[in-house]
Amino acid sequence: MKPSARHVGVFDSGVGGLSVLRALRAELPGVRFTYLADSLHAPYGERGADWVARRSQAIVQWLRQTQGIDALVVACNTATALAIDGLRTRHADLPIVGVEPAVKPAIELSASGHVGVLATRGTLGSERYAALRRRLEAAAPRALHIHDQPCDGLAGAIERDDTDTIQTLGQRYVDAVRQAAPGLDTLVLGCTHYPFAAAVLQQAAGPGVRLVDTGEAVARRTRHVLQMDAADPDQPLHAESTLMTTGDAGALTAAAHRWLGWHRPAQQVVVPD
Ligand code: DGL
Repeated sequence: MKPSARHVGVFDSGVGGLSVLRALRAELPGVRFTYLADSLHAPYGERGADWVARRSQAIVQWLRQTQGIDALVVACNTATALAIDGLRTRHADLPIVGVEPAVKPAIELSASGHVGVLATRGTLGSERYAALRRRLEAAAPRALHIHDQPCDGLAGAIERDDTDTIQTLGQRYVDAVRQAAPGLDTLVLGCTHYPFAAAVLQQAAGPGVRLVDTGEAVARRTRHVLQMDAADPDQPLHAESTLMTTGDAGALTAAAHRWLGWHRPAQQVVVPD
């Protein structure tokens, strides 16, 4: 790990990783970020594990060769679940931070022990997620009730900013968890797209249910990996960051404006397989 790392690549299947970028920028204002949305191929969640692993390798290779990044945040639960081990093997010299559903913090916050996990099918079906659950269940001092809910179509609807479908699917999936877990008090947003549907999900879950996402924890972890202090006086305020997409540049520009208040235009790029 290089303490001097100051150019961090961040990638997601699409616009969802902007929820992580928002937290990264708040935590590390002096770091230059290059964000890549692979929107041409979003969503990843219903594709196979091999495909996600191959595509993630192609993206990281491209970010290193063409952008010269010196650290990486995989701002996608699905890509972390299905690809991060292979990325760490192939890029052993690159500090890599991933995201995983915040089940551990949710268990700590839950009074009832009933925790719902909204995520993609790819994340919930992965060996990495199964191992996380096994570890947490083995370590739990009390009975745990973790209710996994695959949310097919929800990331895609957020990607398209399709508010009607976000409303319909958000309500449907939260209802399904509530039905399975009448004591539910904590709901994990296990996909980086879902914080952008938080209002719909909170409304569907009701005021007694707390939503938990991972953006801030990932940002703190990244600061730790980069070996930077929280209040580094040498950090300039808001280093220049770049938004790139394999899909429609206008859509990423609009999403960054809507959710992060950014006015900077995104660039369209080609990332070969
Ligand atoms: N944002 C991603 C995640 O955190 C992927 C969503 C998708 O592409 O299906 O899982």
